[in-house]
Amino acid sequence: KQYEVAVIAGDGIGPEVMAEGLSILQTVEKLHGGLSFATRSYEWNCSYYLQHGRMMPADGLEQLRDHDVILLGAIGAPSVPDHVSVWELILPIRRAFQQYVNLRPAKLLKGLDSPLRYKGHEELDFVIVRENTEGEYSNMGGRLHSGTPYELAVQNNVFTRFGIERIVRYAMGLAESMGRKRVTAATKSNGINYSMPFWDEVVRDVHKEYPEVDLSLCHIDALAAYFISRPESFDVVVASNLFGDILTDLGAAIVGGLGLAPSGNINPEREYPSMFEPIHGSAPDIAGKNIANPIATIWSISMMMNHLGYRDLGKLILDAIEDVLVEGKVRTPDIGGRATTQELGNAINEKLLAH
Ligand code: NAI
Ligand code: MG
Repeated sequence: KQYEVAVIAGDGIGPEVMAEGLSILQTVEKLHGGLSFATRSYEWNCSYYLQHGRMMPADGLEQLRDHDVILLGAIGAPSVPDHVSVWELILPIRRAFQQYVNLRPAKLLKGLDSPLRYKGHEELDFVIVRENTEGEYSNMGGRLHSGTPYELAVQNNVFTRFGIERIVRYAMGLAESMGRKRVTAATKSNGINYSMPFWDEVVRDVHKEYPEVDLSLCHIDALAAYFISRPESFDVVVASNLFGDILTDLGAAIVGGLGLAPSGNINPEREYPSMFEPIHGSAPDIAGKNIANPIATIWSISMMMNHLGYRDLGKLILDAIEDVLVEGKVRTPDIGGRATTQELGNAINEKLLAH
């Protein structure tokens, strides 16, 4: 079976970590005869923007649509405002392709220490499900009275019953399929008095379809604190777009940092391509130094294999990452070593091949 893979390496460390990810894909082809990936690179990034005045061509989404999956490195450069690079490339892809699930595991890999380990949290393993198409990142609102003392900005939150139902159903179904019981829904219905009470209501309605799942609603401020004080108490956490964005970076931090954290932007109905990407950005502070950690990207490829239905291969990739971490010899600086991006990528590739 051949899969068409669109590759948007992006800016900064994006291309550096993507090179390691793509060599893992080649190794997967060697391991699994009959499986092949036809990759096609799209050079859409901030340099493209500076040349063309846009982040991707007018028919960019059309070009991507024909692929089975999309791999993204990272987007963003100091020369282009972040709201432009994100709103003109990443968010249009997520929305046009109904990638309404942003799936982000918070799992402490073998061989790594959590910054929380001193508290005895060795077994951190939960999943954050972030709503990815509506909510606080709405693109509705406006600015008025620029340049006057009365200048103001309004940004509307958009929550739909349809949007909340489908993300909560996904989270509940995921908990069931993982054999996990608990779903924690992030809320703030004590302070945000229209959208969040609505969110709570719909969450409770959907929960009625899943009587085996234990639901708790938890205010986002307290929930953030619980991520630190008792992270082992979570199985699946479901959150709106903004709350989920914040929680997932926190989730990444408690399991070892952004260099490790993968994500999938998933269209569960498979009507459109899903997109896999490391959570981190283009890291201008370390770009070009060849020290970026490729694990977040390689783990994202493991998630992509799971999505395509090759769970055994997805697991082999994650096992190879863990084997290298347990040996502890080859590590990039962010996880306490001195290896380069390629050295760590190669070490994982060798483990995978040797399997
Ligand atoms: P960032 O994730 O790029 O960097 C935050 C910190 O984590 C930096 O100190 C960086 O060196 C470190 N870091 C990130 N990835 C790493 C890796 N693989 N290995 C080792 N260290 C790593 O976030 P920041 O600095 O807020 O944003 C930089 C640019 O990236 C901005 O233009 C921002 O808009 C963009 N961005 C893009 C995202 C995307 O493409 N999905 C997501 C987040 C930010
Ligand atoms: Mg983020």
